[in-house]
Amino acid sequence: MNCEMKKLYLIGMGPGKPEYLTVQAINALKQVNVFFMLEKEGRGKLELLEMRQTILTHYLGDTGYRVVMVNSPARAKTVDYQNDVQIWHDEKRALFAQLIANEMADGQIGAFLLWGDPSLYDQTVSLIADLAKHYTGKLEFEIIPGITSVQVLTAKHKIPLNRVGESITITTGRHVETCDPIEINNAVVMLDYNASFQRFTGQNMDIYWGGYLGCADEVLVSGAVDDVCDDLLRIKSEVRNEKGWLMDIYLLRRRIDGDH
Ligand SMILES: C[S@@+](CC[C@H](N)C(=O)[O-])C[C@H]1O[C@@H](n2cnc3c(N)ncnc32)[C@H](O)[C@@H]1O
Repeated sequence: MNCEMKKLYLIGMGPGKPEYLTVQAINALKQVNVFFMLEKEGRGKLELLEMRQTILTHYLGDTGYRVVMVNSPARAKTVDYQNDVQIWHDEKRALFAQLIANEMADGQIGAFLLWGDPSLYDQTVSLIADLAKHYTGKLEFEIIPGITSVQVLTAKHKIPLNRVGESITITTGRHVETCDPIEINNAVVMLDYNASFQRFTGQNMDIYWGGYLGCADEVLVSGAVDDVCDDLLRIKSEVRNEKGWLMDIYLLRRRIDGDH
């Protein structure tokens, strides 16, 4: 790397515990001068920051690197979702630009520890790619893949992601809360704030749900949606009240002949 160049690693950190980092991620951590830790204001903020710090302490100890913590901009929630996202991304891009300009000297290496894998429902990659284009050759970045929450969900439930030859959809709660339920056959649902699995009762569907996967408070629930829906709503509400935040993901699967 030339001495004027700044380099950023976007490191997939897996969904929580240090053991989910790959060897490639650990090797990248060891080269980094400054880690940028961004978290949104909210009740889970401290715990999420602590999990990142635990990863650094576990692999690097407490010295030899800098940590810069900043509040991540939050997306406004108006009726115009697309516009809200655009403003939010502009704010994040501007924040990243500031961090790169003010917190990294030429020749230094910075890193973002990104939850799960950087390519899945995380636009940091696109925002950094935009910035790198405008840095006229003075900023390079490398993406280190991570284990996604999808993989941890299926591993914990001991199921394959798809049955033989089947397609898999990965989608959002926003989609599932309004789509025609018939279009969902085998789908992972992420970013669901409204327990949209409730729309799938009476339809011969199974659910494999995980909350705080790979974290100390991990919870798993599975079964026919008809059988577990009420329990799941109660469990979600209990754990969210207890901790103040919840990160959950689930697979919805329509039964086919031979499933039981
Ligand atoms: C912004 S997306 C980031 C996903 C991440 N890049 C990944 O690879 O898993 C956040 C969503 O991922 C899911 N998620 C991430 N980590 C999770 C975990 N530890 N337990 C349960 N769901 C998780 C939830 O659906 C959450 O709303």
